[in-house]
Amino acid sequence: GITRHYKFNIKLQNVTRLCHTKSIPTVNGKFPGPRIVAREGDRLVIKVVNHIQNNVSLHWHGIRQLRSGWADGPAYVTQCPIQRGQSYVYNFTITGQRGTFFWHAHISWLRSTLYGPIIILPKRDVPYPFVKPYKEVPLIFGEWWNADTEAVIRQALQSGAGPNVSDAYTINGLPGPLYNCSANDSFKLKVKPGKTYLLRLINAALNDELFFSIAKHTLTVVEADGIYVKPFDTDKLLITPGQTTDVLLKTKPDFPNATFFMAASPYFTGLGTFDNSTIAGILEYDDQPSNSSAINRKKQLPLFRPTLPPINDTAFVANFSSRIRSLATTQFPANVPQTVDKRFFFTVGLGSSPCPKNQSCQGPNNGTRKFAASVNNISFALPTTAILQAHFFGQEKGVYTSDFPINPPFPFNYTGTPPNNTLVSNGTKVVVLPFNTSVELVMQGTSILGAESHPLHLHGFNFFVVGQGFGSFDPNKDPPNFNLVDPAERNTVGVPSGGWVAIRFLSDNPGAWFMHCHFEVHLSWGLRMVWIVLDGEHPNQKLPPPPSDLPKC
Ligand code: C2O
Repeated sequence: GITRHYKFNIKLQNVTRLCHTKSIPTVNGKFPGPRIVAREGDRLVIKVVNHIQNNVSLHWHGIRQLRSGWADGPAYVTQCPIQRGQSYVYNFTITGQRGTFFWHAHISWLRSTLYGPIIILPKRDVPYPFVKPYKEVPLIFGEWWNADTEAVIRQALQSGAGPNVSDAYTINGLPGPLYNCSANDSFKLKVKPGKTYLLRLINAALNDELFFSIAKHTLTVVEADGIYVKPFDTDKLLITPGQTTDVLLKTKPDFPNATFFMAASPYFTGLGTFDNSTIAGILEYDDQPSNSSAINRKKQLPLFRPTLPPINDTAFVANFSSRIRSLATTQFPANVPQTVDKRFFFTVGLGSSPCPKNQSCQGPNNGTRKFAASVNNISFALPTTAILQAHFFGQEKGVYTSDFPINPPFPFNYTGTPPNNTLVSNGTKVVVLPFNTSVELVMQGTSILGAESHPLHLHGFNFFVVGQGFGSFDPNKDPPNFNLVDPAERNTVGVPSGGWVAIRFLSDNPGAWFMHCHFEVHLSWGLRMVWIVLDGEHPNQKLPPPPSDLPKC
């Protein structure tokens, strides 16, 4: 591989959407941010210089960071944030990975504007396991607030209530023609007839799982989270925040006399107000250059809109996610751990915590409490220095404790009547894993405040989704049905609304690895925890010391 250098200047830029202009944090003045393109085996050296007031850190979502955990990015987990006027060089090699990923800020809600695609191509002369696309197009979904998103989350955390919903969803930063004052801000994909396009879909939205479809076209799913899957055809799909999905789009053989909308709308089963608007882009067939009547003709083209599933279509979601299977071939094996060293059972969900004295809260229980979210009833509190640093230098005292409850603190029927105790407690608790531990983790949605799906994301690893189901996980009846042959291998999985998911991974990467809900609001409420993976015996199983420019807190 080669070394590719990037310079990311974090600076403010005026951007207008929906007739609102605001000054937003950007990389190099671009919104969405620049695209990183590299090949498997390349080294990326990305110098990030912070020119804004806010502290910043960037994360390379889905990149495993094998023995380069110092470059992973979540603030107060692997590094202290980069302060104004300071810089940090993220230096890592893409080992054994190719596919679609993305980068985003990993502190507070700055990722609402600081994000962009990462495309890792296969090594030179290594073909895709599917037809060579005529063209590749990244489609990155996002969310736009007219208000300042830092103010939105600050206000929510202070009041204990849910944050204001966004004003629009976006494709490549553009809300599209279905929103008011947005007709000119539409993503348009111009295609030629009879060709195959590879669409690299990335969900970088903060709080919304999205259905996606293109009117009157079939999509062939070929990759999820940077792992090739058994191809299958569908006319709609679901993508959670933190997931990427590559699809082949075969265009019609001739110039159809029509314009097609591509559209995305949210999947949501929880409580509360929700932005259920639809975002759209346009698929337009290129006319032959010699066709002089093209312009006239275009004005009368009928317009087709796709039908998207209803907002709470959990049956579609479960069915779609179960169709995603690893290739499991000799060339692309599914290395599912067949035995398990350690089993964990985590509850994930929303709850509430007491309203601080002298404060009035607007959260659950008739507005008397604050919203909180937790794993095994622990709402994870970020420390004031980085966990990885504390671990590496043996200074964990006062930073974190290693007593994360590895089983839920009280038994209850997770989908039935909520127990009285829905209060969560705060803590900075981690699970410590020896090197090369084969882990099985069942994550159970608690449904205490209504059944809701949680897109759980694990840093540092891919995991295999060996099982999922509705209701309460049954430790006797469910494991015999686990798929240990060709399960999906990914880095983000939706814990089903009103159900559970079981994953397996091998702890072969020393470091401190964040695991959290990729809904930014749930992350802010504490639905997050950290795995610390110890060094192995051999020199190539150890985490090297931090780079000298690692930011200080
Ligand atoms: Cu994109 Cu910690 O995540």
